[in-house]
Amino acid sequence: MDDFGTALLALFGTRLKEHEPLSKHTNFRVGGPARWFVDIQTEEELVRAVELIQVHNVPWFVLGGGSNTLALDEGFDGIVLCMAMRAFRIEGTSVVAEAGVISVALARATAEAGLAGFEWAISLPGTVGGAVRGNAGCFGGEVKDACVSVRVLRHGQGSSFAEASEDKPMTPPEIVKLTREDLQFGYRESSIKHSTDIVVSATFELQRGDVATLKAKLGTILAKRKATQPLSSGSAGCTFKNYEAVDETELQRIGKKLDILLPGEMMSSRRVSAGWLIDKLGLKGTKIGGAHISSEHGNFILNNERATASDIVQLIALVKTRARNEAGIQLQEEVQILA
Ligand code: EPU
Repeated sequence: MDDFGTALLALFGTRLKEHEPLSKHTNFRVGGPARWFVDIQTEEELVRAVELIQVHNVPWFVLGGGSNTLALDEGFDGIVLCMAMRAFRIEGTSVVAEAGVISVALARATAEAGLAGFEWAISLPGTVGGAVRGNAGCFGGEVKDACVSVRVLRHGQGSSFAEASEDKPMTPPEIVKLTREDLQFGYRESSIKHSTDIVVSATFELQRGDVATLKAKLGTILAKRKATQPLSSGSAGCTFKNYEAVDETELQRIGKKLDILLPGEMMSSRRVSAGWLIDKLGLKGTKIGGAHISSEHGNFILNNERATASDIVQLIALVKTRARNEAGIQLQEEVQILA
């Protein structure tokens, strides 16, 4: 074991895992081993781990629930910090949740506490940290609707001492509170996604509501999800972001290329559903190795036949090529690659 490993072992003891298969920690159930893997249970542990990463200049990746992450077959030659800080507290209409809180659990708990505004997350896989970073959303809600501030761990301009210079000095890890303005939420976007900040906790401001009505809403959302999306495991939800067109002319051009009238909802939102597009391209059911495109929703890639990560990567490439050539649309992955 090298110096970094020895220092990690002193910090995490038997909780430190070496050569841990990432397929065990991602919903796609693919991915080779991480050289180091540790679940982070407290803020203090996170700070200490980041300090070690800086000193030893080791590649790192922060994993939430693994529900939107594609780990590659070659694994990850660095440390994976799996956020397992799962405490939350409700104070009046405010909810403060640590990064590792499971979104579904928070949706249920807030509804049961008579708080409205987080019901949509009952069908959102993953953790609060990941949801905040990517401004996750579904069934009429998104993180930005209720998130008022986020505490992050900031650790300098670069991710290591090796990257630091006189102009870009390395700063020790510190907790910083980001306001809504700092967060710059957009469609599946936040400022955090473009920084090396690590989400520690988030505060949501909700409204008072009737418990029975809120619980009924959870049921309605789950039923809607069941009716429109595959529920089987082995998927990272939507693979691609929906496509945001610049203007109406571009939408008309897309329609013309596909020789199809775009649904009114997509015209008015100026957003082309990637699932709809993949469906129209006739790609549902397409298979590469053990991975295939769901026949229920075109934006879901499923692994239920022992796929490898490269099967999934190739399927992603195939969809992007077809979308580019036949609709003039450059799709962007929503799933995050663990690299
Ligand atoms: N559609 C098809 N064929 C398909 C899929 C969709 O014709 O294979 C049509 C639907 O019938 C509907 C339209 O396309 O008329 C839009 O479909 P849907 O309502 O399923 O929404 P979406 O835009 O495909 C988005 C989010 C989902 C979220 C749903 C429901 C993105 C990339 N996807 O999908 O989020 O659950 O709305 O709110 O923004 C995720 O992010 O992982 C995810 C699944």
